[in-house]
Amino acid sequence: MKLHLVVGARPNFMKIAPLWHELKKATEFLPVLIHTGQHYSENMSQAILDDLSLPEPDFHLGLGGGSHAQQTARIMLAYENVCGISHPDCLLVVGDVNSTLATALVAKKMNVPVVHLEAGLRSFDRSMPEEINRLVTDAISDLLLTPSLDADENLFNEGVDKSKVVRIGNIMIDSFEMLRNKIDSTQSYLEYDLQEGDYCIITLHRPSNVDDRSKLEDIVQSLENLSNKYNICFPVHPRTGKVLEEFGYNSRLIDSGIKLIEPVSYIKFMSLVKSCKFIITDSGGIQEETSYLGIDCFTLRDNTERPITISEGTNRLVSAGNLLKEVEEVMQRSDRGTARQIDMWDGATAARAVNALREFWENRS
Ligand code: UD1
Repeated sequence: MKLHLVVGARPNFMKIAPLWHELKKATEFLPVLIHTGQHYSENMSQAILDDLSLPEPDFHLGLGGGSHAQQTARIMLAYENVCGISHPDCLLVVGDVNSTLATALVAKKMNVPVVHLEAGLRSFDRSMPEEINRLVTDAISDLLLTPSLDADENLFNEGVDKSKVVRIGNIMIDSFEMLRNKIDSTQSYLEYDLQEGDYCIITLHRPSNVDDRSKLEDIVQSLENLSNKYNICFPVHPRTGKVLEEFGYNSRLIDSGIKLIEPVSYIKFMSLVKSCKFIITDSGGIQEETSYLGIDCFTLRDNTERPITISEGTNRLVSAGNLLKEVEEVMQRSDRGTARQIDMWDGATAARAVNALREFWENRS
């Protein structure tokens, strides 16, 4: 089976890498790697691809930047050309970014079956671009590979046929396990003059947090307050970097002692995460990684499409207004950082994905 695998934005790389390596072991698959170029800066793309030992993509579309419509439309046009040249038997997309939606739409209209890995997650907040991408991608997918029971239930509630849904677990954990030795032997905190276990990490990039000036002002204020008690390391996403500079918040954060650093590669980042005291984030993947590692995570959002990280993991939803109070409360608890082992978040998800793909293909032909 000639299988197109699409990567575009940073969180896609750690979901595709374990699958790529597993597919390469199986003789009946011919994986073809397509990079849309949605993320294009060295530290948002190549450095991470290198860490994960992903090869040069077979097709690089080079289509980063622009509005949602521009990005989606440009990726659709370019991917349609790729399909005309490469003739896939099947397309596999991951996650919820614009590259996921754009390529799934193209394939489906060309009658190429679509597989969505990380299907079924729902924030039930349709003001999030990712929620639209998830809903549409799931609606047109032929095989839906899910990370958790709540995702299965969301799909069934939407009327998706049970035979299309296969729970395989969380593939990001496979990336972590694949590189655990390297992550364990890296001490990134030393590079940033931090002490093991004595700093917190913040990551922010959601439009709802960083594009709205008054919301960002509240977050900056809250981080200034937090910096009186904790050392803070802040790898700044390009979207956030632009806005912080535009509104003049960079200097305020630096003046309060917060270390603003460039985005870091996968191994370095996971090493920073492993040794930190807690994390403040609005990322989806980090809610999962911290739950797996038993590190307290404070998610600056009103909702999460990953509720299992709250019910089973170490995650809690917070606002700029209650962040300091919540952190203080959790840091005093004797059971902080305790998480339950989540079913199928075990480093063997890629193997289950390959089995599901094999069965899916056998049943079609
Ligand atoms: C995208 C995804 C989001 C994911 C995030 C992870 C969508 C709708 N959003 O958001 O779900 O959580 O990636 O990072 O697909 N930029 C650079 N260099 C880069 C990448 C982006 O400078 O390598 C700039 C772009 O030019 C743009 C901004 O950052 O101005 C936002 O990039 P974009 O890809 O539109 O969305 P993200 O906010 O990164």
